[in-house]
Amino acid sequence: MKLWEGRFSKEIDKKTNDFNSSISFDCRMAEQDIAGSLAHVAMLTAQGIVSATDGEVITDGLCGILEDLQSGKLAIDPNAEDIHTFVEQTLTARIGDAGKRLHTGRSRNDQVALDVRLYLREQVKALRAQLVELVEVLTNKAEQYAATIMPGYTHMQRAQPITFGHHLLAYGEMLLRDIGRLDDTYKRMNVSPLGSGALAGTTYPLDREAVANSLQMAGVTHNSLDGVSDRDFCVELAAALSLVMVHLSRFSEEIILWCSWEFRFVELDDAFSTGSSIMPQKKNPDIAELVRGKSGRVFGDLMTLLTALKGLPLAYNKDMQEDKEAIFDACDTVRMCLTAFIPMIDTMTVKADNMRKAAAGGFINATDCADYLVSKGLPFRDAYKATGSLVALCIADGLTLETLPLERYQAVCELFDEDVYDAISLERCVAERKVIGGPSPENVRKEAAAMKIRLHS
Ligand code: ARG
Repeated sequence: MKLWEGRFSKEIDKKTNDFNSSISFDCRMAEQDIAGSLAHVAMLTAQGIVSATDGEVITDGLCGILEDLQSGKLAIDPNAEDIHTFVEQTLTARIGDAGKRLHTGRSRNDQVALDVRLYLREQVKALRAQLVELVEVLTNKAEQYAATIMPGYTHMQRAQPITFGHHLLAYGEMLLRDIGRLDDTYKRMNVSPLGSGALAGTTYPLDREAVANSLQMAGVTHNSLDGVSDRDFCVELAAALSLVMVHLSRFSEEIILWCSWEFRFVELDDAFSTGSSIMPQKKNPDIAELVRGKSGRVFGDLMTLLTALKGLPLAYNKDMQEDKEAIFDACDTVRMCLTAFIPMIDTMTVKADNMRKAAAGGFINATDCADYLVSKGLPFRDAYKATGSLVALCIADGLTLETLPLERYQAVCELFDEDVYDAISLERCVAERKVIGGPSPENVRKEAAAMKIRLHS
């Protein structure tokens, strides 16, 4: 039976009903739909729009439906048009005429706008908690590996020495910004559109603020047309989640590289790796690859939302039903990714010796060698040139700056002295990079501690 029964003389075509129905995906908002109805009916009663007796019967009926859904006693009808219809029709079937009063002063348009906000509010909280957990893992690891030297790269070429802790904290910074974006999204999401009606508000003396209050929302929307047609909060969330995926995907890419035999910087725990069906030696970073791969889904969800909205005249249009699958998928995907990614990072083994070896082999202290000459009075450009010829000479003779004899240094520039070896030692190179935001072990310890405070402030 349809809600618009009086106006129509025929049932909807069966296949068209399936096409039109959103129950298969909006059924996950059952709890939020009932919470919204409970707040609405409490307000209707308080305002004298519905009698106290009817209000009580409706409230009990809604609570019964919620209980039965949770216990599995009540199954959702897959033929219902949507969750709102299902709850209302079940209510009326159970309590009779009083159930028909629940929808007074309300439309499914403001109802669905509310349900999505309430549902996503919970998603944001859960996703935020996961991001916080990941930052905690990273800051702990950063402290542990504050002095672990590794090569830093540009263009995938060894560039300058850094510390592994510093590298991890770079991801911590990205994730902190992600958390900030989620918090920002939450603020605009957490207002009640109920009372916007179908599009033009309502003539009933609704107390919109009371409804918002009882749902722990920060306020109400201020234009009925916007109230029912705004899905910016879905777009904002999908955009914030897309950036989360960009960050997880970049991190995954590095994990994949670091696990390779070419790098051997880390080894993933067996519990977060997979083997090959044919090659017995293989240990594959599937989790990281899947996270990298799934980023595309979330970007796609963002595009779906933007495209669904861009041509819509005010106010509600059925196109908006397409918001849910997209934003639900984005939330589900990011949550699943984080659920596997966090323990994978937490349990990985760091191969500090391999990192150190890679850092020692690639002339990554050449800048420091040039800086050494600058400290002896040479202009940087001249120092750069002298060091360049030293590197060329080392490459030709199979040497490194550490193993090049002093006479050969001095043949290029007489300012070189015995202390050059100390100046270009990797430990010195990173220890001296203590400018704010630099990779020195001292900085990493300070920034990791500061990040823990920023995370919880
Ligand atoms: N299932 C619908 C949606 O998700 C609920 C709102 C229906 N409103 C309407 N006027 N048909 O958007």
